[in-house]
Amino acid sequence: MGRGPIVPPGRGDDGAKGRLGQWDLGAAGRLGRGNRRTSRPWARWAASFDSGRPILASMETLAVAQLKGGSGKTTLAVGLAAVLAGRGLRVLVADLDPQGNAGMVLSGGELSPTGPTMGDVLTGGNAILEAARPSTVAGVDLVPAGRGLADVAVRLGGEIGRERRLRLALAAAGDRWDVCLLDTPPTMGLLLVNALNAAAGVVVPTDPGVFCLAGLSDLLGVVEQVGRYLDARGLAVRRLVLSRVRRDLVSRQVAGQLRDRFGALVAAAELPASVKVEESHSRCLPVPVWSPRCPVSVALSLLADELFPCLPSLQRVA
Ligand SMILES: Nc1ncnc2c1ncn2[C@@H]1O[C@H](COP(=O)(O)OP(=O)(O)O)[C@@H](O)[C@H]1O
Ligand SMILES: [Mg+2]
Repeated sequence: MGRGPIVPPGRGDDGAKGRLGQWDLGAAGRLGRGNRRTSRPWARWAASFDSGRPILASMETLAVAQLKGGSGKTTLAVGLAAVLAGRGLRVLVADLDPQGNAGMVLSGGELSPTGPTMGDVLTGGNAILEAARPSTVAGVDLVPAGRGLADVAVRLGGEIGRERRLRLALAAAGDRWDVCLLDTPPTMGLLLVNALNAAAGVVVPTDPGVFCLAGLSDLLGVVEQVGRYLDARGLAVRRLVLSRVRRDLVSRQVAGQLRDRFGALVAAAELPASVKVEESHSRCLPVPVWSPRCPVSVALSLLADELFPCLPSLQRVA
């Protein structure tokens, strides 16, 4: 199979789609083994357990990534965490973005977290179990970004194994959590590589605009390289998630392009643009906690249905 380069959009003179630019996502675009599996609604899956909390075979780590700021990564990560915790899973959210937005939402607005943080975990000072703390959402624990995260790349310099720090830290946490969601920065660098190398799958929120398509194209290349050269051999994009979807023409065109190109890899659930998102974040709550019945919360719940039945470690433990 050829591994063609990811190239920028062509002139696009072939009709409506062409006006947005045709993105050749190359071989890296042919990702996502997840969509080959049958998707079972979560409710049926959860109901197959006799009682209580669903038990997973091992912790499932998902990175929420996109090389475009403002695409909805943090909204998706904290929202999905709340949905999964609401269904009885023990969830860890690790904030790998120095901006610390996920930590802020999940800690009731704490801007300068005390105690060990993600920077200390990555530079080897603390175990993830020491840095994790309960969030304001029941069932969700949090490792906040902390001040030291921004200069982790400098502090780790040329140290051996610097891309593997998070993977080793999470492995050492054993089965403390069922699901770990990694919120990532919008820039290519050591933090994103650590997150991807620690993950089994990637969820990519993509707002329907051409800048986001460029971010997607770049990200697919990084995912492929991490899978090829580092530890996360089976790393795959599990779902592209249309986020901040509006009812206008350009939204529909970009969504159409993505579905044409990636088929079932694009989640059926779309996160609509909604004022409830900003409202919930201003109250330092994930959307499903602030407004459980709003369209964004419903979509996040459907996304959980889509995502989790297809993940390999979601097996019933005998
Ligand atoms: N579905 C949505 N509808 C309206 N606003 C949204 C939606 N998703 C995200 N936002 C807003 O867009 C901004 C960026 O979202 P965020 O999740 O922080 O993106 P990222 O983490 O990719 O930078 C935030 O102000 C957030 O409240
Ligand atoms: Mg963010």
